[in-house]
Amino acid sequence: MSITTVEKRHTPASLRARKGGTPIVSLTAYTTSQAKMLDPHTDLLLVGDSLGMVVYGFASTLPVTMEMMINHGAAVVRGASRACVIVDMPFGSYQESPTQAFANAARIMSETGCAGVKFEGGEVMAETVQFLTQRGIPVLAHVGLQPQSMNALGGFQAQGRTDADAARVIADGKAVADAGAFAIVVEGTAEPVARRLTELVAVPTIGIGASPACDGQVLVIDDILGTFDAFKPRFVKRYAELSGAISAAVSAYADEVRTRRFPGPEHTYGAGTPEKKKNQA
Ligand code: KIV
Repeated sequence: MSITTVEKRHTPASLRARKGGTPIVSLTAYTTSQAKMLDPHTDLLLVGDSLGMVVYGFASTLPVTMEMMINHGAAVVRGASRACVIVDMPFGSYQESPTQAFANAARIMSETGCAGVKFEGGEVMAETVQFLTQRGIPVLAHVGLQPQSMNALGGFQAQGRTDADAARVIADGKAVADAGAFAIVVEGTAEPVARRLTELVAVPTIGIGASPACDGQVLVIDDILGTFDAFKPRFVKRYAELSGAISAAVSAYADEVRTRRFPGPEHTYGAGTPEKKKNQA
């Protein structure tokens, strides 16, 4: 008899329990095939609204819709068997009221099968974090740089670099932790502030441009693979340069099609080839 060990899936509760332990490894994912590749190596897959810029080519995350998040969220859930999948709430789908946020978060969870939602905002969103978590929706909070507020913030500058701003980021993080968030994404924040916040809250902080002091790290998958070139923030480390490899492969294909070297006999059905069983094309 063979015994197969099935690795348990990470959950919001198991990630919360990782506070101060082995750092949480997180990446964004937007498709089933990406999720399949990233799942064995990550604890948390975030279907970020960064997909608006990375997948759809928008200049910001603001035009992202509920339908986009639901379609990509469901695709990622289909490809992940052990990572916890969390889906971002798009701009305008949660800020109006806790009840609006609950209705949209519940829809995202029931239509994708994800384990929880993420949305941006600190003190101002604490009531909503509490409303959702008390009603069974795990929330990953997001403080520091908040891309959905880029118009109000005046761009994508690092946060927490003045005393007043540092105090605001820390108050934001404490408010969402006290309200019940299971973890907090801390984006684009000066190291001393990210470190202090990490010390002060009982839940894990997951940094993106917020220093090694956090309890985990998240990056956009296309940023680490070198397939998104619109801009490269200082906090991104490229682990591969796939744009060049993709371009070389496509150029080789184009050349072979133009010179009739592709398709070859091995890619071609001859007359009289016996019909194969269905699904064996
Ligand atoms: O939208 C996103 O991808 C994010 C990040 C934290 C990576 O919010």
